[in-house]
Amino acid sequence: MTESTATAHGGELLNLVVNETRAQMLRDVSRGLSSLTLNTRQLSDLELLLNGAFSPLRGFMTSADYESVLDRMQLQNGVLWPLPICLDVSEAEACSLDAGQSVALRDMEGFMVAVLHVEDVWPIDKPREAEIIYGTTDTAHPGVDALFHSYGTHYVGGTVEGVQLPLHFAFKRLRHTPHEMRALFKKLGWRRIVGFQTRNPVHRAQFEMTLRAMDRAKANLLLHPVARRATPGDIDDYTRIRCYQAVSRYYPPNMMLLSLLPLAIRLCGPREALLHAIVRKNYGCTHFIVGRDHASPAPTPNGRRFYEPEAAMKTALSCQEALGIEIIPFEELVYVFEEDAYMPLREVPPQSTVKSLTLEEFHRRLREGKRVPEWFSFPEVIEELQRGYPPRHKQGFTIFCTGLSGAGKSTIARILYARLLEMGGRPVTLLDGDVVRRNLSSELGFSKEHRDINVRRIGFVASEITKNRGIAICAPIAPYAATRRQIRSLIENYGGFVEVYVATPLEVCESRDRKGLYAKARAGLIKGFTGIDDPYEPPTAPEVVIDTTELTPDEAAQEVLLYLERAGYIK
Ligand code: PPS
Repeated sequence: MTESTATAHGGELLNLVVNETRAQMLRDVSRGLSSLTLNTRQLSDLELLLNGAFSPLRGFMTSADYESVLDRMQLQNGVLWPLPICLDVSEAEACSLDAGQSVALRDMEGFMVAVLHVEDVWPIDKPREAEIIYGTTDTAHPGVDALFHSYGTHYVGGTVEGVQLPLHFAFKRLRHTPHEMRALFKKLGWRRIVGFQTRNPVHRAQFEMTLRAMDRAKANLLLHPVARRATPGDIDDYTRIRCYQAVSRYYPPNMMLLSLLPLAIRLCGPREALLHAIVRKNYGCTHFIVGRDHASPAPTPNGRRFYEPEAAMKTALSCQEALGIEIIPFEELVYVFEEDAYMPLREVPPQSTVKSLTLEEFHRRLREGKRVPEWFSFPEVIEELQRGYPPRHKQGFTIFCTGLSGAGKSTIARILYARLLEMGGRPVTLLDGDVVRRNLSSELGFSKEHRDINVRRIGFVASEITKNRGIAICAPIAPYAATRRQIRSLIENYGGFVEVYVATPLEVCESRDRKGLYAKARAGLIKGFTGIDDPYEPPTAPEVVIDTTELTPDEAAQEVLLYLERAGYIK
């Protein structure tokens, strides 16, 4: 008898972690192997391959499976599979890899997690993948943006042998492999289990939805949130997981389990809903909830949605047989004031007062320190979120001044530093270009590579300051758009990022030439000078643009302070 009533996808629940003897052998041979260091997204994929959650995959997909998934949503052997599970690498790494070779896959600290036996290396056709998987090539979609800007240029496919599962130090009691989960279900005598996927805190509407699903399926509940957030706008992991723990206490005793899933979310709506269902089937669930906007990105600021609200539900229902798990579709539940209850819109009695609040609106209220209605969530959840998400004027943020040498960045930064310290309330750190080059980057020059290292260092320090609710003011030239974009996305995980483009034209900067560097650059005494013989890529959507040609330094700094006030960063 299997551990649970659900059969694994493709028939067999895999465990790709090898036994200790083989693991020791792999560790020994790994000294002679080259290594790939995996980022958190890639490690998440690897963990789900190793622990069997991605059964029947035995490794990162080869190009033949990749093509088959793109074209037919099936592996080559005909098993339904909706998304590529591929390992992306840089061009340089791709050039050093060949079929038949083995490479050690390591985490960021250098621990070897697995060995990959390379079968295939091929360049990624990103526009094609984006169009087929995400239905768009628009980088306003966070998944497409990641594909275009943070994935490498090539994929490498091949089977993997796990040496040890990636390490997790927080909430260990809430982490299970599919084998462990199934064993637990068996121990508890649970035969019908409904899985619920989420990347947001569970509020009253989702709570009610899970209760109704349990009732419909006559099943227990696996509350199975993804462990790491999908986009910077999502609630941070620790706060969110404490919220789940708080909500768990509202369920009837012994009816639900909470477990964290280390899944890297792509946010590709319908196709992703299928992957979520397959993973839950492998974890032993017999039923899976798919609601409106399942695995969809939040609408863009101008209200654009990438998928129809019901698209994921329809796709999941139409693939139910091939999925081998029962889909429980759910329409949106709304709060009915007179009944003091949540119900589907079409069941609402006439003349009732219906209330609803979108998640975006709820997050906006949290950020702005506004009241959240009690009907929306549980008091413990609201309290936890308010603690984790203080209003903007108590959050950390980074002011990132960028522009040509002599544009006025440092002067504006120094004034802002003084004015923000004068206001008090949060620690303020000034990371001026010259000061950083003396203290953090003294060994670096001005090649593209060195400038990127320098600017990334500034970004890293600023992100730590922002995380700890301080204010970082940075003023490097930071000439390259891609590097600035990376820093923005790092910092937005923790607080605000205010890009200030000091757009003083080159002629004005050159006429000022306070350090005499433009004259030297024109005379060819300095090579690779920004604006002269090295490019400056202007920001396309900075929060503030300042041309200091006609402004005094105080007036220029005031523009930034006015923005900070308008956006709620200062009161
Ligand atoms: S970067 O590109 O962001 O790493 O540059 P940054 O760390 O801000 O350093 C810029 C300051 O170094 C001086 N300097 C040069 N700037 C540009 N190009 C070249 N080749 C160069 N060589 C030296 C220059 O004084 C810059 O100072 P600011 O404050 O911008 O005028």
